[in-house]
Amino acid sequence: MADLSSAVFARVSPLYDRVKRVIPPPEWATFAEDVDAILELKRSRNAVVLAHNYQTPEIFHGVADIVGDSLLLAREATKVDADIIVLAGVHFMAETAKLLNPEKTVLIPDLAAGCSLADSITPQDVRLMRQRYPGVPVVTYVNTSSAVKAESDICCTSGNALKVVESLGVERVIMLPDEYLAQNIAAQTNVKIIAWKGHCEVHELFTASDVRQLRENHPDVTILAHPECPPEVVAEADFSGSTAAMSDFVGKQRPPRVVLLTECAMSDNVSVLHPDVEFIRPCNLCPHMKRITLKNIRHALETGRHEVTIDPAIAASARRAVERMLAL
Ligand code: 13P
Ligand code: SF4
Repeated sequence: MADLSSAVFARVSPLYDRVKRVIPPPEWATFAEDVDAILELKRSRNAVVLAHNYQTPEIFHGVADIVGDSLLLAREATKVDADIIVLAGVHFMAETAKLLNPEKTVLIPDLAAGCSLADSITPQDVRLMRQRYPGVPVVTYVNTSSAVKAESDICCTSGNALKVVESLGVERVIMLPDEYLAQNIAAQTNVKIIAWKGHCEVHELFTASDVRQLRENHPDVTILAHPECPPEVVAEADFSGSTAAMSDFVGKQRPPRVVLLTECAMSDNVSVLHPDVEFIRPCNLCPHMKRITLKNIRHALETGRHEVTIDPAIAASARRAVERMLAL
């Protein structure tokens, strides 16, 4: 038994070297066996793990093959050459991967990993918006169900929302369901944006007074905010962008001190890549993202659960909206 566990530790130790600044040794000791088992299961099942930037470091740096924001995960999902995709993220991300890979098995380790934005709107709501604003195209954030995507003209992510809105060449668009993302994009374009009332339960908690307090406590700090934050937060930040854009900003600008106004795991994952940058960490946890663990990723690979399926009646329309975005 002692030999077995020392063999496991030896196999995963190169991975630990990457994350040791953010995972203390006793914690890593509880992860090592699952990391080792997942690496072997991926090989034997011809599977890949796609992980969102909000996944914890033992997943993000330990077992993921592809990591990124929603846009990159959707794009990379079209190139995967494996039989099984395990989506370490939330349900809409797994649905997007399945839409783009109808022939592959897509697994989500916990079916309850949802999203407050996806829950804020139904297909019927989209139909009512179309009736209310006839002829106005519907741009839908990927943080929605496939059924809502199927009612939409085109999807967007936080990484390409401005480009998508301006690509339509119209004066007005309906942009669903994130009210703050819609307002933050409206501030950057002449296109008139009709918004919905959805909010991200993680980003809506940041306030402009948090930003001011941070500047008072740390005068040299650089503040980055996700565009799902309220507009007054984005207005007071130094930069706003998708999770990938925030990570790129830190990599390119190397600010001595930074705050990422977003989900907590982002600072851990980005700090591993940039040990010279100091991360100040007021952050909020996404309870949905945190449902994904090494244990349930391992269980998904061992049992094939939970397989993501899309209702065939809506799949083609939903896929069209996602592919139209990816074609831009
Ligand atoms: P990104 O597309 O910026 O990664 O955001 C996804 C998300 O869920 C943010 O809350
Ligand atoms: Fe949804 Fe917000 Fe969690 Fe992202 S952080 S998955 S938008 S609830």
